[in-house]
Amino acid sequence: MIDWTSRYAERAHGVKASDIRELLKLTMRPEVISFAGGLPHPKSFPIEDIFRISQSVLLNEGEQALQYGTTEGYIELRKFLAARERSVGVQVDEESILITSGSQQGLELVSKTFLDKGDTVLVEEPSYLGGLSAFRLFQASFETVPLEDDGPDLDVLRHLLDTLPTPPKFFYIIPTFQNPSGITYSLEKRKELAEIAREYDLLLVEDNPYAKLRFEGEDIASVKVFAPDHTIYLSSFSKILSPGFRLAWICAPKDVVRKLVIVKQATDLCSNSYVQLITYQLLRRGLIDRHIPWIATMYKEKRDIMLKALEEYFPPEVTWTHPEGGMFLWVTLPDYIDAKEMFSDAIKQNVAYVQGGAFFVNGGHNYMRLTFAYMDNDKIREGIRRLAAVVKDHLRD
Ligand SMILES: Cc1ncc(COP(=O)(O)O)c(C=O)c1O
Repeated sequence: MIDWTSRYAERAHGVKASDIRELLKLTMRPEVISFAGGLPHPKSFPIEDIFRISQSVLLNEGEQALQYGTTEGYIELRKFLAARERSVGVQVDEESILITSGSQQGLELVSKTFLDKGDTVLVEEPSYLGGLSAFRLFQASFETVPLEDDGPDLDVLRHLLDTLPTPPKFFYIIPTFQNPSGITYSLEKRKELAEIAREYDLLLVEDNPYAKLRFEGEDIASVKVFAPDHTIYLSSFSKILSPGFRLAWICAPKDVVRKLVIVKQATDLCSNSYVQLITYQLLRRGLIDRHIPWIATMYKEKRDIMLKALEEYFPPEVTWTHPEGGMFLWVTLPDYIDAKEMFSDAIKQNVAYVQGGAFFVNGGHNYMRLTFAYMDNDKIREGIRRLAAVVKDHLRD
């Protein structure tokens, strides 16, 4: 038998199968009401529009659609995305835009390009699991900045920046409808964070796949608007069009984009040309913009059902966030409850969540992430009822 372990690269030794992927397999059983996965609701996919546009792309631009494209991405799509940035006050052209195969690839490319073994990355606590995995693969070490209701604790951030022996490579932030917490940074914190970035010459990696899914309150400018020279910005078509398309983009200073392009060449040469042409046509015709409010309305209804059920069934010892958009809410259990241990009881009752520890570098045992977006409305209330019964069983008298 070949001893594979001795042959793996050092960076691969550190990566382990995620608990979450294993747990998610259990949640796939049809009888389980799952608030676990971060999947968009399938009804959010504009299938008919995609059907029509994909046919017309094949008929009219088939040779280009089926050919390799440039690593940077389809020029018309990049121009369109750059114009969108200018409309919110970020003065960029297409040379600042790189198309990626999902934001997950964007995070991996940023890690590959910026991280050496042992480099410090600042992350929100909690933070997106896929981001942590990408940084871990490149052997980063983490320092965490706790999230408050209105964004990161900036005193902690300043303290870290003042005291760390070497400056962190970047601060990874998800300021709008954060995954996992649903929290959105206030405008004040965005501006202050941008000021800190300039003051300390701190690079921000702003990951923003959910902002368009706002169903309550006012839109808030992304942090990049206030610190464009210090921000690598990522956004994605996964939650507003289709995660199966694997299409996203990075907006960053041109020098960074040029470097990321070279790195991406070694990864996949280019993102899917056909999908880029289809997406550009959908955008150009306004079909995505017209569709997003429909998705947001659907998700608001689901969030409302979940919030109402939480109020009705959950005991007063438990609290949760009230997201104004996105797909997730975050539940805080009493400190003595371990959500990872409780999971097996939840699965016995055919209800699932993601235990909060998955989103922490250390700790986080007493939290749960609930996705309100994925389940059909009639299941949400019943799922929360079952989950409440499980939680109540774990309460101390
Ligand atoms: C915060 C965050 N970043 C990135 C991603 C990855 O998105 P994509 O499908 O564009 O790779 C996700 C997916 O859930 C996410 O929640």
